[in-house]
Amino acid sequence: MNSFVSKSSEDTQAFAERFAKTLKGGDVVLLDGDMGAGKTVFAKGVAKGLGIQEEVTSPTYAYMNDYDGRLFHYDCYRIESAEQAERLGLADYFDMGGICLIEWSQNIASLLPRGCKRIRIVKTGADEREIFVEE
Ligand SMILES: Nc1ncnc2c1ncn2[C@@H]1O[C@H](COP(=O)(O)OP(=O)(O)O)[C@@H](O)[C@H]1O
Ligand SMILES: [Mg+2]
Repeated sequence: MNSFVSKSSEDTQAFAERFAKTLKGGDVVLLDGDMGAGKTVFAKGVAKGLGIQEEVTSPTYAYMNDYDGRLFHYDCYRIESAEQAERLGLADYFDMGGICLIEWSQNIASLLPRGCKRIRIVKTGADEREIFVEE
């Protein structure tokens, strides 16, 4: 396991941009951390690293945003059950060849495929975060 200390959201994005280069299509990455930890900031960096031009915004209300089939960015905070997630078809994107980034994946735990990668972001100060890469 690897970890990185970030001193700013720019640092987090730059780290995520480098992490993105280690990913391949079909990878499912769980983004763990409390509210405000920087999961969405990290997702923005991954998108940049993948060369996605479109601005990444929090999918809190849509549950999942699709960036050209190359990146699927989930926010499952408001998902109430695996049944709901299944009904919404959220599991359908895991094997479509794009990279999946999932915030609040614990709310869809029973739907997750095997072999997910995990990023855990811990707030260690106002602008400081420790980012753990758990493969
Ligand atoms: N080192 C840092 N890394 C990431 N975000 C940071 C950092 N320092 C401060 N922030 C701020 O923390 C907030 C993180 O928000 P966001 O990414 O939406 O969190 P989450 O998606 O985990 O709820 C942003 O307002 C960001 O500017
Ligand atoms: Mg978020």
